[in-house]
Amino acid sequence: MKRLLIALMWVGAVTYVEATDYNEKGMKAYKKLCMSCHGSGDYGAAQLRQDEWEDLMAFRAKRLIDAHKNDPKSFAILTKKSSQKKYKYLAEFLIGAAKDSGSVGGCDGNRCGVQSGKVMMKKESE
Ligand code: HEC
Repeated sequence: MKRLLIALMWVGAVTYVEATDYNEKGMKAYKKLCMSCHGSGDYGAAQLRQDEWEDLMAFRAKRLIDAHKNDPKSFAILTKKSSQKKYKYLAEFLIGAAKDSGSVGGCDGNRCGVQSGKVMMKKESE
């Protein structure tokens, strides 16, 4: 019985680690700030490469904010003080789930599957 319990705990621990291999706080920030336009977190993050996200999220997301300046609705969201506080986690999530990160979207309490958004994230350079 004791062995079985230990085995079950072990399985539980492994599942827990797998379910939280991405940045959970960042995923929540994405849901709050980006999802309404760009679709699910896994979909949105996987539109760009890690280096592109690094670039956009550097200096408190300066380039990301600049990219939205012609869209008053998103610009207002992205320049809010409460949003700026989340950029550190958001960056970790986006980079961790980028196109070339090797991360595969799973299902847990925070996210499930890949859902496309209304707005494509397209870099001008492409
Ligand atoms: C209210 C809608 C809206 C929200 C919210 C929003 N965006 Fe956007 N996003 C846009 C629009 C519109 C564009 C410009 C698309 C274009 O020019 O084709 C854009 C462009 C982008 C681009 C392309 C940037 C580039 O270099 O061209 C990226 C990346 C992006 N958004 C990421 C995000 C992230 C990350 C968030 C959350 C922090 C977010 N967006 C929130 C509407 C939104």
